[in-house]
Amino acid sequence: MGVGFLKRSTKRSATTVADEYRLDGYPPPYPDGWYRLMCSDSLRRGQARYLECLGRALVLWRREDADDVFAMTAFCPHLGANLAAGRVCADRIECPFHGWQFTGDGRAVSVPYSAHVPSGAAAETFPVEEVHGHIFMYHRIGGPSRRADEEVPFGVPRVAEFDDGRFVDRGHYDAGRTRTHIIEMIENAADTAHFGHLHRGLCVPWTKVPVPGVDLEHRADLRIDDAVGTHTIALDVESVVKVLDRRLERTRAQARATFTGPGSIINFRIAVPDAGEIEIVQTQLPVAPFEQQVDFHWYAERKIPRLVVWWVVGNWVSQWRHDVGIWESKAFRSAPVLCRDDGPVMRVRRWYAQFFPETTACQNHPQTASFVKSPEQ
Ligand code: FES
Ligand SMILES: [Fe+2]
Repeated sequence: MGVGFLKRSTKRSATTVADEYRLDGYPPPYPDGWYRLMCSDSLRRGQARYLECLGRALVLWRREDADDVFAMTAFCPHLGANLAAGRVCADRIECPFHGWQFTGDGRAVSVPYSAHVPSGAAAETFPVEEVHGHIFMYHRIGGPSRRADEEVPFGVPRVAEFDDGRFVDRGHYDAGRTRTHIIEMIENAADTAHFGHLHRGLCVPWTKVPVPGVDLEHRADLRIDDAVGTHTIALDVESVVKVLDRRLERTRAQARATFTGPGSIINFRIAVPDAGEIEIVQTQLPVAPFEQQVDFHWYAERKIPRLVVWWVVGNWVSQWRHDVGIWESKAFRSAPVLCRDDGPVMRVRRWYAQFFPETTACQNHPQTASFVKSPEQ
């Protein structure tokens, strides 16, 4: 009886301590960048939808008379009703409470019971882009109201071969929510030493079930010098399958992962020997500080057999699941103890700091200051 009591008690307190420790170390949860919100199909013409993510309450709506999509703070500038419960009329969204109407730039343009529309009445709006059938929004940490037409420092990456018709859309996988911080995707690329240990086993695609006797050997090279002064960073990985310790040279494959922004959009280009090329796009949307909605979409040459595409994408998802297993219970070390042969973890963190404008992030989150001023590596 005594043992049972001790067991339950130990488990509860361990979880609490771990959670506090984890929350303490990480930088702010919503860095600047483009985030995928939903599929374009999920928002028809004339439709408005409510969405909570990035620490914001948003209304996303599409014009009734055109395809333009707008993102705004959901709460009406008048008396705070939720605009998502209103209706879209042509090029305006109408509030359900008193019927004020707003155009996509956030301006109030009609008050049904008054000729005097307050000139300063404007909803906060955000830049939106639709790319390959997905809706993306640019989010910025804090600051004053932002305009939908503001200049943003970079765009949503496109798959050039999908634009020119050489690739076709081959699938989508909604991976659900992970209990992680968004920075882990970039840390994963910077930490090139973990590939040989965590990712050394081949698994049955889409699962974490290992294939006995079959291993993977990786060589990872993060192109940190190319990333300086840009918003993208690329990781080259070469992998080969080993069966009972013998390399199968015909399986040697090259992949490049390009991260655009703070880990919210990652494009994986994989060259499959004797088959062709596949591009997987992985997106992460923070719906809470430690909760990411993760989606995968992939594009490939038409000629690649379905089974090969299924195998390659499934392998990628299996390896990602191994990472998630680590991320969901780890802490963030702002001053990690590194060895000479670790990847360029601290250089990448300094590159990443661009997504936390210091003026707001450092005031509100003291841990960002130590993150930005990490020791030299
Ligand atoms: S609260 Fe929106 S019109 Fe009054
Ligand atoms: Fe990994």
